Amino acid sequence: MAEAEANAKGERDVLRDKTIAIVGLGKIGGTLAQGLIRNRVVPKANVQGSTGHEASAREAQERLGIVVTTDNAALVRGKDVVILAVKPQTMPRVLEQLRGAVTEEQLVITLAAAITTRFVEEQLDGAISVVRAMPNTPCLVGQGMTVLCPGRYAMPEHVEIAKAIFEAVGRVAVIDNEELMDAVTGLSGSGPAYCYIVIEALAEGGVKVGLPRELATLLAAQTMLGAAQMVLETGEHPAKLKDAVTTPAGTTVDGLLELEAGGVRVALIKAVDRATRKSKELSR
Ligand SMILES: NC(=O)c1ccc[n+]([C@@H]2O[C@H](COP(=O)([O-])OP(=O)(O)OC[C@H]3O[C@@H](n4cnc5c(N)ncnc54)[C@H](OP(=O)(O)O)[C@@H]3O)[C@@H](O)[C@H]2O)c1
Repeated sequence: MAEAEANAKGERDVLRDKTIAIVGLGKIGGTLAQGLIRNRVVPKANVQGSTGHEASAREAQERLGIVVTTDNAALVRGKDVVILAVKPQTMPRVLEQLRGAVTEEQLVITLAAAITTRFVEEQLDGAISVVRAMPNTPCLVGQGMTVLCPGRYAMPEHVEIAKAIFEAVGRVAVIDNEELMDAVTGLSGSGPAYCYIVIEALAEGGVKVGLPRELATLLAAQTMLGAAQMVLETGEHPAKLKDAVTTPAGTTVDGLLELEAGGVRVALIKAVDRATRKSKELSR
């Protein structure tokens, strides 16, 4: 069996027969549900969820083909894994509903930006295993980047379960210093938006030099995707890959000069820095 296939099977085994409750089937919760079901990570019957309103619960139930409720305490009872995917401001209310319903046998995965594992642990009764996760929207197309960080009661096997869940919708990295979750939010959490701006601007450049917009957007997006894939698959430093495209006295170096003159590099560094600081502020 190929190594990748064996790994994938190992990941699935971690989740075999596990039941999963997703509290908040919005953009990210719904995406996770879809990813788990579509990739047959767990049987469809093992995934259930909740929303904040009856109408959205009915809509999600129809769209995802799983049982959806608005009763969070009933939803989580007896499930192996509880994923909290509501907005940060909704978390205190939801945790209050879940106090007493979540037990030490269950794993709680929290996705809410700026909500710490300690906060979740303190709002629930007992030594609850909590893993914090910061995914991003490309999870929707199976190309997400999720960073996990275990809370103080979470064991390695809990991290493995969380890993298997998020590997259904992209790549996963694990860190053990929760303070870095703000930096993760500032880079990969917010990052898709920065990339869209770059793609949009490159496409605009294409239009400026005569390409039809649709073609220009395709060229820009696929170029971004290809370059990212090169970095991930070759493991080379991006600067080395850039040098390989840059023929002496060729076209690329002229383009690069314009980027440097426009301060693109500094602007992107500042974007990550600023978003990280904002995430820190929100955590407080
Ligand atoms: N979107 C992302 O890329 C992303 C990335 C990383 C982390 N996150 C985190 O994920 C969380 C959700 O974000 P989102 O973008 O998916 O938000 P969203 O689309 O607004 O989804 C929120 C969901 O929570 C439901 N909800 C509200 N109150 C509830 C309650 N009392 N009980 C159960 N469900 C309730 C909402 O249902 P109704 O529609 O009925 O109100 C909705 O389905 C946030 O904390 C965010 O920080 C999101």
